[in-house]
Amino acid sequence: MATDNAVTSEGSAVVQSLEETRELASRLLPLMRKAGSVSLEGPLGAGKTHLVKAVASLLGVTEPVSSPTFTLLHSYSSGAYPLHHSDWYRLESEGEVLGLGLEEYLGEGVLLIEWGDKFPSLLPKDTLRIRITPQHDESRQIQWTLKP
Ligand SMILES: Nc1ncnc2c1ncn2[C@@H]1O[C@H](COP(=O)(O)OP(=O)(O)OP(=O)(O)O)[C@@H](O)[C@H]1O
Ligand SMILES: [Mg+2]
Repeated sequence: MATDNAVTSEGSAVVQSLEETRELASRLLPLMRKAGSVSLEGPLGAGKTHLVKAVASLLGVTEPVSSPTFTLLHSYSSGAYPLHHSDWYRLESEGEVLGLGLEEYLGEGVLLIEWGDKFPSLLPKDTLRIRITPQHDESRQIQWTLKP
C-alpha cells in the first residue's frame, strides 16, 4: 500500500479519470485511517461510491462493494483492516442516524459515510470531509479537510 506522497490534512486536487481518483484515494488513505471516519460529499453521481470501491480495493477487500442503501451500513472484513460503509442519502431524521449506532464502528479501521453532510452535526468528531465536484467528462475536483 503506497503511503508516499501522503497528503496533508487540508487540500484539493483535480483528477482526470477513474484511475487518478484511485491514485488520490491511495494518497488519502493514511489521513482516512488517522481520522477514523470520512464524510463523502458531492452531488448524485459525483463518485462517492467509486471512492469507497477504490479504498476497498486498496485494502484488499474481496467482498463486492455496493452502496448500503437499504441496509444502511456494510462492513467489509477481508481487507488489511475493517472498512465500514454507510450512506445517509435516504435518511430523513437525526433519529435515524443515531439509530445506526455508528460509534460502534469507530476506533478500528475506517468508517466511510456517503452524504455525511446531510447531518454534519452528527458526524463523529475528527471526521475527514471529502467533497467531490464533477467538472466535465471524467474530471473531478476533490477537496478534503480534517479539522484538528
Ligand atoms: N474521475 C472520476 N472519479 C469518480 N467517478 C467517476 C470519475 N469519472 C467518471 N466517474 C463515473 O461517475 C460515476 C460515479 O458514480 P458513483 O456511484 O460513484 O457516484 P456517487 O457519488 O456515489 O452517487 P450517489 O450520490 O448516487 O451515491 C461512476 O459511473 C463513475 O464511473
Ligand atoms: Mg453512492
